[in-house]
Amino acid sequence: MDEQRLLALVDRMTPEEKIAQLQQLIGAFYEGFHDVELLTGPMEELGISQEVVRASGSALNLSGAETITRVQQAYLENNRLGIPLLFMADVVHGFKTIFPIPLAMGCSWNLELAEESARVAARESAVSGLHVTFAPMVDLVRDPRWGRVMESTGEDPYLNALFARAMVRGYQGSDLKGDTERLAACVKHFAAYGAPEGGREYNTVDMSERNLREYYLPAYRAAVDEGAALVMASFNTVDGIPASGNEKLMRGLLRGEWGFDGVLISDWASVRELVAHGAAEDDREAALRAIRAGLDIEMMTPCYVHHLPELIEQGAVDPKWIDEAVLRILKLKDKLGLFEKPLRGADPAREKELLLSPEHRRAAYELAVESCVLLKNEGGVLPLAPEAKVALIGPYAESDDILGWWSCNGERKDAQPLGAALAERLGAGRLTAVPCGLDRVTAAELDAALAAARSADTVVLALGEASEMSGEGAARTDIRLPAAQLELVRRVKELGKPMAAVLFNGRPLDLSGLYEEADAVLEAWFPGTEGGAAVADLLVGRRNPSGRLTMSFPRAVGQIPVHYNQFSTGRPFQPGREGDRYVSKYLDCPNDPLLPFGFGLSYTDFRYGEPVLGSDRISRDEPLRVSVEVANTGRRAGVETVQLYIRDVAGEVVRPLRELKAYVRLALEPGETGKAEFLLTEEQLRYHHSDLSFASDPGAFRLYVGGNSRDTREAAFTLVGQASAF
Ligand code: GLC
Repeated sequence: MDEQRLLALVDRMTPEEKIAQLQQLIGAFYEGFHDVELLTGPMEELGISQEVVRASGSALNLSGAETITRVQQAYLENNRLGIPLLFMADVVHGFKTIFPIPLAMGCSWNLELAEESARVAARESAVSGLHVTFAPMVDLVRDPRWGRVMESTGEDPYLNALFARAMVRGYQGSDLKGDTERLAACVKHFAAYGAPEGGREYNTVDMSERNLREYYLPAYRAAVDEGAALVMASFNTVDGIPASGNEKLMRGLLRGEWGFDGVLISDWASVRELVAHGAAEDDREAALRAIRAGLDIEMMTPCYVHHLPELIEQGAVDPKWIDEAVLRILKLKDKLGLFEKPLRGADPAREKELLLSPEHRRAAYELAVESCVLLKNEGGVLPLAPEAKVALIGPYAESDDILGWWSCNGERKDAQPLGAALAERLGAGRLTAVPCGLDRVTAAELDAALAAARSADTVVLALGEASEMSGEGAARTDIRLPAAQLELVRRVKELGKPMAAVLFNGRPLDLSGLYEEADAVLEAWFPGTEGGAAVADLLVGRRNPSGRLTMSFPRAVGQIPVHYNQFSTGRPFQPGREGDRYVSKYLDCPNDPLLPFGFGLSYTDFRYGEPVLGSDRISRDEPLRVSVEVANTGRRAGVETVQLYIRDVAGEVVRPLRELKAYVRLALEPGETGKAEFLLTEEQLRYHHSDLSFASDPGAFRLYVGGNSRDTREAAFTLVGQASAF
């Protein structure tokens, strides 16, 4: 429908219909209006009338081809102008086929698999009737106390931006109207939700605008530039004003500076929460601040429907703001082809054929394999020796709780636990599985575990967090493994057997009590529906781990925030000079994390040559060619993620010790030498100055290449020419 026809439709809508179009409600409102207890209190207390329900613009967290068909058809019978409902849901890392959590996916550094995961999720969701996913979540994270780090791809703005683009491409494709098996993407949570003080959920976010622009905004910008159809406002304040009512952030930066003309939706109740924040006296003022900020859809609270009519009457709200919001929503419905095909991709037959299809499971398996990170492997304990007798011990020996917090429509019954997968591979008689509680090991379980360990050649501990210990509302102050699991480690360790550990968790953990004790540690995160098979194939060596961490593992929670792109400070600690007192350090802990950004081991070994630079200088017109040879010196094929970092030695503002600027994944056969080649441009050296100008400064740079952000080989170059004012 062209814009004129959409404008004509807006003109035909009554003021009440326009305002109702801005309301989003959960599915229960469309299915018999029965009262359910909501986060926002009983439905009845929301005071949402049947007229509002009949004219509301979108529904969330309803799915299923038959359900959506029924609800949409019933809705259209009662909607005066025949404007169809939008159906949105959290499809964050898979719909029915669940992929590894995004923090795991990020560790694959594999953008193609990431895009494919979004493509599969979109296909499964669309045939189940959905139109929009509340994803990708692209919040940059540096604090593993925060439970939602599991939803992010990590601590680096450049890598997060690449994944943001890949996910938007996978969800949306290039023709949302023509390809009904795609979804509109809603990038979230704008902005900087990943930086709550203390890592405490929903806590204050406070940082300089320069820091926000340099580190926290790039991934949102990338998603918007990739064409994300919606943006979701975050719960938190940004420079003192909650995002949902932050005019400078929304109308100023998102819409004004970036030119975003898509739909801006609140988070759950985040409009009404302006009152709790202390940014609005009451729902009326919350509605005023949100609509003035340019927020189009109010999720699950009634501030707009209850107060916009009077605000317009009193002249406090310009009716134009309402019309603009309505038009953006109708444009999105048109972009999805809903006016012509209100049921769009909903198709019960396709749903049965596609959900959990072998092809989709295979895609989930591949990403799970590449998302796991080998954190330690001394004495070659992994992969398991072909004839080894194995004792698999721990809460994750037979648990199907491997989907992760935002697996929503995924079902644990569809996930094969590690024990079953490993038994298939080891054969009967070679595996003894001893499950136990996650935070309690009974005496009988301990006895069985120690007995199994004694008679085994190798012990594999399957440990971790419960899935509900990460995700939304799951901040932790102590990020170690539960004490009962650490005691199990200690007792098994006493037996002196080769001991590997597999971790199922949603955040970097403080691995005290495990990392030193185990001979090998494989990080599996929450690997999704095919996670058991993926981890089993890595343990037995059918596949070789290739994951690289995208979020640092601290030595202790007291180190947080600890991330690779730290600054030098005026008194940098010098390794080897532990006795220095007056330097930037702790008395009781090294500065560096236990495991740095980019870190990951393989079952083979890689040897790096020296970086070769095409010149010792770079300029705006002359990019710098960089190459480095990498040899696979081991006995197995493997994939090495060759990472290129820079350091701007002296900037107008201080610059990080390392900044990831590029990477190449090299698949190398045993004995093969490959070459990673990069082309570094002056644009990649630009940063936000104290006046927020985005520019590079001539001067000295260092360059680092390696398999992680710590163990690198170094070179130097100079940026010549005028500063690039941008
Ligand atoms: C939640 C989350 C958001 C999600 C929304 C709808 O509170 O913050 O990520 O998309 O509500 O479920």
